[in-house]
Amino acid sequence: MHVIAVASQKGGVGKTTISLNLGLALGRAGNRALILELDAQGSLGLSLGLADRARPGVAELLTGAERLESVLLRTREPELQVLTVGRVDPTTVAGFEDALARGPVLPSVLARLSPDFDIVVVDCPAGLGKVTTRALEVATHALLPLQAEPLALRSIGQLLAVIDRVRAEKNPQLSLLGMVLSMFDRQASASLDVAETLWTKFPDGIILDTVIPRDEAFLEASLRGAPLLLMQKRPPPLARVFDQLANDVLVRLDPTSPDDDDGPISLLL
Ligand SMILES: Nc1ncnc2c1ncn2[C@@H]1O[C@H](COP(=O)(O)OP(=O)(O)OP(=O)(O)O)[C@@H](O)[C@H]1O
Ligand SMILES: [Mg+2]
Repeated sequence: MHVIAVASQKGGVGKTTISLNLGLALGRAGNRALILELDAQGSLGLSLGLADRARPGVAELLTGAERLESVLLRTREPELQVLTVGRVDPTTVAGFEDALARGPVLPSVLARLSPDFDIVVVDCPAGLGKVTTRALEVATHALLPLQAEPLALRSIGQLLAVIDRVRAEKNPQLSLLGMVLSMFDRQASASLDVAETLWTKFPDGIILDTVIPRDEAFLEASLRGAPLLLMQKRPPPLARVFDQLANDVLVRLDPTSPDDDDGPISLLL
């Protein structure tokens, strides 16, 4: 089972949006996918239209109040399930984070999920705190959204340093799946400058080909509690960007997939 930690140092760069829409696209592509929310803010549940702290989830697994089978949420997409953060009391977030970061619950939950899922997409909280570090310790891959704006470039070094440290001390199998440029605005010169710097200064292969554009439709989708693809019966063309991202991710998870051996296919039979 691949475990992809979606992490960033900066807040509000699109981690939850990417986790949700990527998880759905992976499920639609036939992968048994789970979106796992580790952010006490609970934005994933809110983005799915769940009332604040409505459902038990990770928090209840930590206290032992619920069993894993009863907190997994099934979705309209048969291959996709969701595990939200649960009812974290805003006054005890530090306790929740400590329990998540120190205890054995997270690795043991992942071990129990392993026979039933191909890919787990982990929506991390913002920053390089203990929960993100813990997610990286149990992940197989890190996916780093980078907001296409100048401050984003400054935070990359620190995040890469944390990944290196986790790999050296706790999780040698952790690999960098790549960075994905998000909220890209091709009409803003600052956004274009950041994209150009990333594409020219970083080693080949670190930046994923898929770019997530800045678009009002994302705000509308999170307000209405739906992934972009399910916003209306005929999804906006923008939703296809996540099929492309899922494809990018799948090729990197399995570099021996047939995509590598790509030749022309005859139209005529
Ligand atoms: N590509 C985009 N274009 C426009 N708005 C976006 C885009 N991606 C996300 N947003 C909006 O930006 C806000 C922050 O996005 P999101 O919650 O996904 O970021 P995050 O990195 O998970 O934030 P946090 O660090 O708080 O967890 C949300 O209101 C979301 O709807
Ligand atoms: Mg988030």
